[in-house]
Amino acid sequence: AFHKHPEPLKLASDGPFGKFDRQQLQRGFQVYKEVCAACHSLHYVAFRDLHDLGYDEPEIKAIADQWAIEVPSVDPNTGEPTTRKAIPADKFPNPYANETAARAANSNAYPPDLSLITKAREGGPAYVHSLLIGYRDPATYRNEDGKPLPVENRPGTGLHFNPYFANLNLAMPQPLTAEGQVTYADGTKPTIDQMSTDVTAFLVWTAEPKLENRHRTGIAVLIFLLFASILAYLSYKNIWADRK
Ligand code: HEM
Repeated sequence: AFHKHPEPLKLASDGPFGKFDRQQLQRGFQVYKEVCAACHSLHYVAFRDLHDLGYDEPEIKAIADQWAIEVPSVDPNTGEPTTRKAIPADKFPNPYANETAARAANSNAYPPDLSLITKAREGGPAYVHSLLIGYRDPATYRNEDGKPLPVENRPGTGLHFNPYFANLNLAMPQPLTAEGQVTYADGTKPTIDQMSTDVTAFLVWTAEPKLENRHRTGIAVLIFLLFASILAYLSYKNIWADRK
């Protein structure tokens, strides 16, 4: 088989005690903004949700200001959609005017909305990370058995080989191609692996921004149930104490 399962990925938000690493989410947002947003929307995320990542209101306004939102009217002279600047209440919009335009720009594939992608795909965050760093040269690729990729499995025009993608060839060109593609304000070295891990962490947040509440609640519930079980056991002992 030439299709590969995702490589394991560790994130701060993993496990029952997991918490988001805010610095990392900010870096991941930067990667989304500077790279992925050229093709992908985040329809379930509003600019003001970035408050969670540690941005304050002026910063959020300044970020929203860099996006254009289409308004439901068309320029009567050119037929082009008209736009206004985004405000904090807007969601991260689709960069394309419509699906036809999106497909026309992407070898007839449609870049999916990324809000829930870490939940929607088998393998979750590990899959997204593996996909981003998994592009290979189809001519020199060998699978675990050392077999080269059969010619009929090589990508056609406008497709790109990636063994982590179910049908091996996808329309998305490798989005993270070089170290230093973004410049991180916190001094983190922007290797391809780092940028990919950061944007994946960010997409875990977009898919479940209240993950920390769920973890906290779960732990409180377990402590309560443990306590209730101890009480139940002690009262059982007490009630039956004088019976052999
Ligand atoms: C598909 C993530 C940048 C175009 C996807 C998928 C993910 C993803 C997770 C879904 C793959 C699947 O269906 O299993 C990202 C991330 C990016 C990024 C995190 C930034 C680091 C881009 C850019 C473009 C693009 C810049 C356009 C030049 C597409 C297209 C698809 C796609 C066309 C559909 C591929 C197909 O079904 O063949 N992307 N993407 N992506 N992306 Fe991106």
